[in-house]
Amino acid sequence: MEEELHALVKQAESGQNAVSTRAELADFKATFVGPNGSLTTVSKGIGKLPNDQKPVFGKKINEVKQRLEGIFSSIQDKIEAVEFEARMGPAVDPSLPVAESQPGTEHPLTQAREQIIGIFRQIGFTVVEGPELETEFFCFDALNTPASHPARDMQDTYYLPGDFRLHGEQKRDDESFILRPHTSAVQIRTMAKRKPPVRILSPGRCFRRDTVDATHSANFHQVEGLYVDREVNIRDLKAVLDHFVQELFGSDTRTRFRPSFFPFTEPSFEMDVQSTNLGKLSGRWIEILGCGMVDPNVFSHVGYDAEEVSGYAFGMGVERIAMILHGIDDIRHFYQNDLRFLQQFKSV
Ligand code: PHE
Repeated sequence: MEEELHALVKQAESGQNAVSTRAELADFKATFVGPNGSLTTVSKGIGKLPNDQKPVFGKKINEVKQRLEGIFSSIQDKIEAVEFEARMGPAVDPSLPVAESQPGTEHPLTQAREQIIGIFRQIGFTVVEGPELETEFFCFDALNTPASHPARDMQDTYYLPGDFRLHGEQKRDDESFILRPHTSAVQIRTMAKRKPPVRILSPGRCFRRDTVDATHSANFHQVEGLYVDREVNIRDLKAVLDHFVQELFGSDTRTRFRPSFFPFTEPSFEMDVQSTNLGKLSGRWIEILGCGMVDPNVFSHVGYDAEEVSGYAFGMGVERIAMILHGIDDIRHFYQNDLRFLQQFKSV
């Protein structure tokens, strides 16, 4: 009997390649496991065996059955693959031209951010990041911005009402979580953790309740800069920003400071640039950032001694820089994911 089983497996193995249709497979199966199939016949012999041999033989039969099932299902797979190919055509058509490879490019905002950071890194600034979800304390109070300041209005800043905790951020009971309206909060977070001197740059996403149009977006990006040390003065600020814009827009770029107001700097300025390399914008004064000397009240919130140290801070919009660099006239292009737009900015 043992030999019969062995022969039967051999027969199935050598016969399988000749089976190529579902009907043939059904016949093939029947030869072994049908009512008159060879395995069925052999198994019937079990009854005549002495009782102590029955379990051993039963086990053998099962093993053979499993081998056969394996063979049947691999035939089935082969048949299905052939049928699929007949329906769909060959899986690979070697006569087709190869698909053109399409490497991605960095988003123009990413490129602009990296360009800005790269310039400041070379003169000793390090990059620090802060959370997009902030508290009123870091965005306003510690930045000397009183509760009555218009920037704190619900019309301008996204408040997250309700009492909850998020990723371990602490907040006082009398304040709210907000989506940061500027990266200036990172000034506070950094100074609270580090002793002066501090020389950092902080890029990141910000949010304001702006109505979207060609120059406004509720979601935008800034790069913040902060330098605090002994005897830092306005000349240092101007020299660093002059260097920055000349690296970015070309060596003939000029700057001018206009008096302005920010609660956390005193004095405060808007800085304009004028350059000959800016296409349609060439020769025009263009506002590119806000800046000023860190207000002594800000130092008092982070435990710095305003008698000992002084500093400057600046903040710029990445969208604005990218728009000037590339002559883009509508901020919405940055967020529409239109490949015809994005593919014009091959990575540098
Ligand atoms: N945070 C200011 C803004 O969003 C920019 C700024 C940063 C001004 C640092 C002065 C100093 O408009």
